[in-house]
Amino acid sequence: MSGLDTGLALAYLLTGILFILGLKFLSSPAHARTGNTLAAIGMLIAVAATCLDRHIVTWPIIVIGGIVGALIGFFSARVVKMTAMPQMVALFNGAGGGAAALVASGEFLKVSGIGTASATDLVPIVLSVIIGSISFAGSLIAFAKLQELMPGRPLTYPGQQVVNGLIGLSVVALAVYLSLGNLDPRAFVGLVCAAALLGILAVLPIGGADMPVVISLLNSFTGVAVAVTGFVLSNTVLIISGTLVGASGTLLTMLMAKAMNRSITNVLFGAFGSVQSAAGGPAVTSSGGTVRTASTEDVATLLAYSRSVIIAPGYGMAVAQAQHAVRELSANLEKRGVDVKFAIHPVAGRMPGHMNVLLAEANVPYSQLHEMDEINPQFEQADVALIIGANDVTNPAARNVPSSPIYGMPILDVDKAQHVVVLKRSMNPGFAGIDNPLYENPKTMMLFGDAKATVSALAAAVPTA
Ligand code: TAP
Repeated sequence: MSGLDTGLALAYLLTGILFILGLKFLSSPAHARTGNTLAAIGMLIAVAATCLDRHIVTWPIIVIGGIVGALIGFFSARVVKMTAMPQMVALFNGAGGGAAALVASGEFLKVSGIGTASATDLVPIVLSVIIGSISFAGSLIAFAKLQELMPGRPLTYPGQQVVNGLIGLSVVALAVYLSLGNLDPRAFVGLVCAAALLGILAVLPIGGADMPVVISLLNSFTGVAVAVTGFVLSNTVLIISGTLVGASGTLLTMLMAKAMNRSITNVLFGAFGSVQSAAGGPAVTSSGGTVRTASTEDVATLLAYSRSVIIAPGYGMAVAQAQHAVRELSANLEKRGVDVKFAIHPVAGRMPGHMNVLLAEANVPYSQLHEMDEINPQFEQADVALIIGANDVTNPAARNVPSSPIYGMPILDVDKAQHVVVLKRSMNPGFAGIDNPLYENPKTMMLFGDAKATVSALAAAVPTA
């Protein structure tokens, strides 16, 4: 091993360690920024070390590619709205899958130029191309659904699973044919097209609101594609980082599915999830039950004279961008000596950690954020549970209505507080598209309106101490 090879191996080892530390730090909101910085330093070292490798393309191409990529990454990360983060992750993930497929295609061209290749060379190339193409095409559809470039609802048609099954079989057949040493470019192009088509058709029947789970799953696919590409190129850092992405994406997908009490197969094939409807609608549930409404002044007074308030935020807070107003309200209440805590459900909002990120952006102290298992026993002692744009994650039907589609999903026990106040715009349902019996509970008061306007009005109406 030459000195350069030893240096590269050590740089890749350091990169692997930095990625692992980065992931570790990312698991807590308090250290997430440090985690991100460590992982970014790891990536910089990996890119710099790879540039020293002798097998690379020419410097001008690397420099141009680096500048274009860095500019796209920098500007898109700066301008993206927090609610548009899932689709940006989908795009970046698709780029990763596409890159893995392109690198493997380049290697296929190389070996087919030589005219002969062993199965040991061809199997990783074929796997990388299949997984990368599925991830690339599937991620673009996920992006298009979330960006509303196409209908977000599940797109289904009769015989869909059969069609997908047949395309899946043709992918397997072409993969076996190529791996046996048949270096036929037409079969290779056919494989790329069939895998990309499978990625598109597999994501079409999934509802737009299930996309975060799908994106996380595709993310793990990209990780596997990158790791396999690492075997193609004999590149350690690709194997390490791809495995980390694959493993963490799989774990995250499983965590999300568990927190929704749904299986991965239900997410992929269940065509679940309505599209969020617009504001409007009467103050009655679809079963005809009426609900109690309250005025801003009523709620402000109730909050101001409470000892303990637990705020349960959800998707509506994100849509309304109400996090800064929420911070202002909580600070005003704290000035009056009210104990304010935030209850964070693992799948509140539309992406993992959605509420943590928004509240951190508004400078809500991490010590006030409490995970579901930790906060649930505290609702009984709370004077008020203030629900801001959350619906499904507070729906007691998940606990006591076996026929409910969300039965078994762990929820925030908001109904155990002395008073429950719900801020939303209408009686429209949430993501699961079902009624919430909490709204008919005699302890519950509804305060209708856009979360940002309502919370700002509440913050202003809380009497100063
Ligand atoms: P949802 O159940 O979707 O309810 C959000 C509520 O916010 C709606 O009922 C809506 O009612 C209200 N809302 C929307 N815009 C608003 C605005 N501008 N101001 C005030 N309220 C507004 O949200 P949740 O409780 O956070 O639950 C999340 C759901 O998403 C769960 O079913 C979960 O399984 C699913 N999901 C989550 C994830 C992740 S990782 N977080 C991934 C996939 C699926 P109005 O229209 O009446 O205002």
